[in-house]
Amino acid sequence: MSAQQQTQSLSSKIDNVGVIGAGAMGHGIAQVFAQAGLNVKLNDVSLEFINGGIKRIEGNLSRSVEKGKMTLDERKMILSRVHPTESLEDFKDREFVVEAVLEKIEVKRDVFKRLDRICGKEIILASNTSSIPIAELAALVSNPYRVAGMHFFNPVPVMKLVEIVQALQTSNSTVEAIRALSIRLGKTPVVVKDTAGFVSNRVVCPMINEAIFAYEQGVASKEDIDTVMKLGMNHPMGPLELADFVGLDIVLDVLDVLYREYEDPKYRACPLLRNMVRAGYLGRKTKRGFYEYP
Ligand code: CAA
Repeated sequence: MSAQQQTQSLSSKIDNVGVIGAGAMGHGIAQVFAQAGLNVKLNDVSLEFINGGIKRIEGNLSRSVEKGKMTLDERKMILSRVHPTESLEDFKDREFVVEAVLEKIEVKRDVFKRLDRICGKEIILASNTSSIPIAELAALVSNPYRVAGMHFFNPVPVMKLVEIVQALQTSNSTVEAIRALSIRLGKTPVVVKDTAGFVSNRVVCPMINEAIFAYEQGVASKEDIDTVMKLGMNHPMGPLELADFVGLDIVLDVLDVLYREYEDPKYRACPLLRNMVRAGYLGRKTKRGFYEYP
């Protein structure tokens, strides 16, 4: 059987997955896998970070129990499927791995090189990156056709979309395996090409940027800008609230990638956004962005 056929056949029997990164996205990804009945190993750089992610999963599940959407036994079962591990070497038995580590190319490069050494050569390696080219990560491993983007949205347990990012090297069978897996998670997958910002961030980040320009120019207050988009366009959050929610550093990273890749001035980041990131006002995660979160 060719390595490519092996990837295809594996898609139907993925039960043991690995998630790297237990932060804002990683903990949610681990949760949805465990809720779908898969066995998850959750890794991060320290046990403290992993336990932080597990605590967040516990909190999310407790809220579901309180609302009567889940029983205590179900909560217990789901949590029993999440296994913390500080050692990436433990991923050698995984049938599928997705990483949601820091959005820094050098960190992701290191993770992919290590996974290539540790995991079976036919195991699909996915990245939850929102701005790093998948082709660059795929080029680091043997059998690059098994690398793809599996882009989740925050909060992962709530948001229905998965953007599957197909790089030049990604095989159709890898895409189909991730599509099937996304459906098992109760998500709606959409396949996009490996281009800067994919579809989601190419559309949403310039919208957020424009709202920041409008705010900087004093067109309206931040609250009113958000109200316009919530009540006028039915967005669940206004763009400035959303920037705080996603993280101003992430929004800036994406805009910088769009600007660099397309060399189009329409993607130029608003100077206020850049200054806020320099000041460490990154949004909810630092308790201060456009709004304060005491
Ligand atoms: N984790 C898990 N569940 C959460 C949650 C979290 N962090 N926050 C809210 N929820 C759940 C609630 O428990 C609630 O569940 P039930 O329906 O089962 O009761 C549900 O979500 C709705 O929550 P609330 O009633 O508390 O609040 P809300 O109606 O205002 O919704 C929201 C909150 C879902 C976050 C909503 O405001 C929203 O959809 N905002 C926009 C989010 C968005 O655009 N995300 C994408 C960001 S871009 C990205 O992630 C990609 C990237 O690359 C940058």
